[in-house]
Amino acid sequence: MAGKIPTQFIDDLLNRVDVVDVINRRVPLKKAGRDYQARCPFHDEKTPSFTVSAQKQFYHCFGCGAHGSAIGFLMEYDNLGFVEAVEELAQFAGLEVPREAGQQQGPDLRPLYTLMEEAADFYRQQLKHHTHSKQAIDYLKTRGLSGEIAATFTIGYAPPGWDNLLTALGKEKAALSQLLECGLINEADGKRYDRFRNRIIFPIRDPRGRIIGFGGRIIGDDKPKYLNSPETPLFHKGRELYGLHEARKANNKLERLLVVEGYMDVVALAQHGILNAVATLGTATTHEHLELIFRTCTEVVFCFDGDQAGSDAAWKALLTSLPLMRDGREVRFLFLPQGEDPDTQVRKEGSEAFRQRIEHAQPLSEFLFQQLTGQVQMETIDGRAKLAQLARPHLKKLPSGLFRRMMFQHLQELVGIKGGHLDREGRGGMETGRNAANRKTLNSQRPTPVRMAIALLLDNPHLLTEVDKVANDWQKWDTPGTEILNRLLEIIRSQPTLNKAALLERWRESEHFSHLNKLANYRFDLPDMDQEAELRDALLKLNQQFHKQTRPQPGNLRPSELSEELLNELKRRYPGSSGQNEG
Ligand code: UTP
Ligand code: MN
Repeated sequence: MAGKIPTQFIDDLLNRVDVVDVINRRVPLKKAGRDYQARCPFHDEKTPSFTVSAQKQFYHCFGCGAHGSAIGFLMEYDNLGFVEAVEELAQFAGLEVPREAGQQQGPDLRPLYTLMEEAADFYRQQLKHHTHSKQAIDYLKTRGLSGEIAATFTIGYAPPGWDNLLTALGKEKAALSQLLECGLINEADGKRYDRFRNRIIFPIRDPRGRIIGFGGRIIGDDKPKYLNSPETPLFHKGRELYGLHEARKANNKLERLLVVEGYMDVVALAQHGILNAVATLGTATTHEHLELIFRTCTEVVFCFDGDQAGSDAAWKALLTSLPLMRDGREVRFLFLPQGEDPDTQVRKEGSEAFRQRIEHAQPLSEFLFQQLTGQVQMETIDGRAKLAQLARPHLKKLPSGLFRRMMFQHLQELVGIKGGHLDREGRGGMETGRNAANRKTLNSQRPTPVRMAIALLLDNPHLLTEVDKVANDWQKWDTPGTEILNRLLEIIRSQPTLNKAALLERWRESEHFSHLNKLANYRFDLPDMDQEAELRDALLKLNQQFHKQTRPQPGNLRPSELSEELLNELKRRYPGSSGQNEG
């Protein structure tokens, strides 16, 4: 695998390409004042609230809150990973992407990918030519699968016996150790043997189509019914979706994905012409799964069994979905009749009836309120208060936007409060929505001083000159927020020409990225806002907070009980009295 992309290159790249140019090639922009505008590509709207700033090299949508650099735009709009987006931009700018050499270089995984292809070929050949292959083919037939669909999913057969694959691929020492590394061969008491035996083999591909693992279903009733590849350098169960590559291949403008539980469900649905199903690999749906899905399309329908276990699993999936429910995205739930899975159901009733089920799947909002109202007595005031209490923590996980506002509004209606304020926290911080521009002054619920300072400096690095006008004792404070602010100042000092986009990219791989990304969404270009004054004010407050936190607490002690050292410190800090204001 190639090494890390140097930060310097990202800076240069974001300096070289123009975000206006990059976006304009995909979404035609119109000049509006200093900025450019269009109807937002990330949500439905009639009037343009999508704005691109050439100066900041940043885009922002007042409607849905989408925002970011040219890199971020390509990641969102073209469904690219970070590295792919950088490569795309570099190509556009005529630059070669350099890589850092040395220790950071990961191991070269290419031989493992090649080996997985060879193993898949081997299993496929066995399905055609092995002496017992009839048994496997008959099994697939009893499950209603055609040769054509088996070929689409490159289904294979691991024959009975302990060393079929081992003999075929493991002759050389290097290959043998790779087979072990890929989890295709197991080792116990010095003996090696095939992991998959007497099973139908489903190759698992990453979104780019490379084989990263296998799932094997036993032919007959032995245990375990399904066996997957273990975690390997190529395969991480919680991140992969079976069938995603095949779904993308079948339809290059996917609008919706159906999430089911099993390999067989994906394949059986495809057999019936429903080509957009993916399966989690024996795990609950993770945040990573959903991010992967939303990089492909905007709508997901989760498919579950209609029993209690199915409903529990659906609730879990709902909780995982909440933070990702940006405007324009949709999540729905399809509950099948008890005891059925998509495989049995589609075979029973055919594809048209199954499609109808998908069309009528329950929206996330409805499922959420249905589950919660079921837990309280809605006829009583106490019950409705309880509902508000149950719902609020969930709704607060929603990203800001129209959907969130509507969910809170619906809760208010259910609870019976007119013009209530259940979303008080929700509107805290700087306004990011359309209303912000209309407001005369900033909301009274302001972000904390440190957040305010970070957001202001990110938005306008030239404000650095204001920083030195204010006492900066806070710089000694080691909270996560002040550490970020310190780092930000350090970067701006050493490279004063970096724009907002490049600054934000510095944190792309950091645990703080999503936090900073939120701060990058704050809007400060309100007509009557004095950014310099806001920054000085924030830093002043930060200083005060710092002193309050670190000030020795003399309140409970008489002077005679204070150590000499502490007394001197107090005198030094507060000459004259224990006054409140300093600096
Ligand atoms: P199910 O037991 O519902 O199997 O497991 P299924 O998909 O309906 O399989 P068929 O129709 O009997 O062939 C659902 C999923 O859970 C994982 C697999 O991913 C499976 O597709 N699983 C199940 C395992 O990983 N191991 C098991 O032993 C069983
Ligand atoms: Mn099944």
